Amino acid sequence: MTGTANEQARKTAEGLVYATGFGNEHSSEAVPGALPVGRNAPQRAPLGLYAEQLSGSAFTEPRATNHRSWLYRIRPSAAHPPFVRAEPRAVRSAPFTECVPDPNRLRWNPLPAPEGPTDFLDGLWTLGGNGDATQRSGMAVHLYHANSAMDRRVFSDADGELLIVPERGGLLLRTELGLLRAVPGEVALIPRGVRFRVELLDATARGYVCENYGQPFRLPDLGPIGANGLANARDFRAPVAAYEDVEGPVEVVNKFCGNLWTATYDHSPLDVVAWHGDHVPYVYDLRCFNVIGSISYDHPDPSIFTVLTSPSDTPGLAGVDFVVFAPRWLVGEDTFRPPYFHRNVMTEYMGLIEGAYDAKAEGFVPGGGSLHNMMSAHGPDRETFDRASAAELVPQKIDDGLAFMFETRWPLTLTAQARDAGHLQRGYDDVWQGLQRHFRP
Ligand SMILES: [Fe+2]
Repeated sequence: MTGTANEQARKTAEGLVYATGFGNEHSSEAVPGALPVGRNAPQRAPLGLYAEQLSGSAFTEPRATNHRSWLYRIRPSAAHPPFVRAEPRAVRSAPFTECVPDPNRLRWNPLPAPEGPTDFLDGLWTLGGNGDATQRSGMAVHLYHANSAMDRRVFSDADGELLIVPERGGLLLRTELGLLRAVPGEVALIPRGVRFRVELLDATARGYVCENYGQPFRLPDLGPIGANGLANARDFRAPVAAYEDVEGPVEVVNKFCGNLWTATYDHSPLDVVAWHGDHVPYVYDLRCFNVIGSISYDHPDPSIFTVLTSPSDTPGLAGVDFVVFAPRWLVGEDTFRPPYFHRNVMTEYMGLIEGAYDAKAEGFVPGGGSLHNMMSAHGPDRETFDRASAAELVPQKIDDGLAFMFETRWPLTLTAQARDAGHLQRGYDDVWQGLQRHFRP
């Protein structure tokens, strides 16, 4: 049964078409004539649809940061029964109060496989985070491990947008605004409040989620880099309108101020026949990232690898950055080429999508993750240090891995389940043991 569902989802995913561009004002209609022309809220919307605005920013925010979409749907979102508190799962929200913040360097193996049928929502497991969801600031790090499609169930997150980073197994994301395929090596973003359902393209799906309570992710400014480079806007893909006209019970789970709430609708709320706007889901292939680095000596700080940034109220200080360590050439002369030893006021959670990472010879595995909290000292392990210090500095292609980082302005506090997890590696500190003194005054 599951195999058939995977196959159907794969078939659907293969045939998808997209609109392109980051931050664009897109418009799309699944039925010709469904999108009103010349106004947003005509007296009678076309084809008997209801018009509804979904605001991702305050009405009054500046044009550059104002995001909203107009949806033309079979039933208005307002037509729903009361929500009641849902069964708690492994999802937690900021403020994180179960543990005290830990200055130690920590590393985890992948989230274990779930026992029994587990969909994306049931398989979401929170590692930790910072800020306060009710204040719309901060972020949370989640992992997921699922083995079945969400069935007659949709999810929406009022607390923030969800940046989904698949590591194993592809996803078919059925959203209010249309369908997206996201496979390992790609990332998908579900905007705040947009309802969606996750189906699986393979038997299991595993990955990471950055829940961003703060300002929506945007492309970083490029400064002296110029008009092009890093993640290019044209490589982002948005869905086209696709609706389901489904009557009968559908569970809608809403994450609101840290808690899950549930209501059973008598129809699917993925019933948007046409839409226009810029509060839209999107997908991006990390292999499209234009990696920029040094062609003389040293290497730039890893901020040069920023794909998306969520700014804070302080210029240059991100609530959270999404950073990718993609295949690239290293050519620096007289340069220690792996990431240098450092201590950082920002907090770094790193994950690995495939292969290996150039600062850690072992122990950092796909699906696992490491946390280097505010000011914790880290850098290459001993093996990497020894090798890089002796390497012949010929041009070198790093193309055996795809790692990423969620880098955030505030220390990250763990959940109790992350602190006590069986897959927390004991003795991560040992990777920096044996870094002997070479000082010869
Ligand atoms: Fe670092």
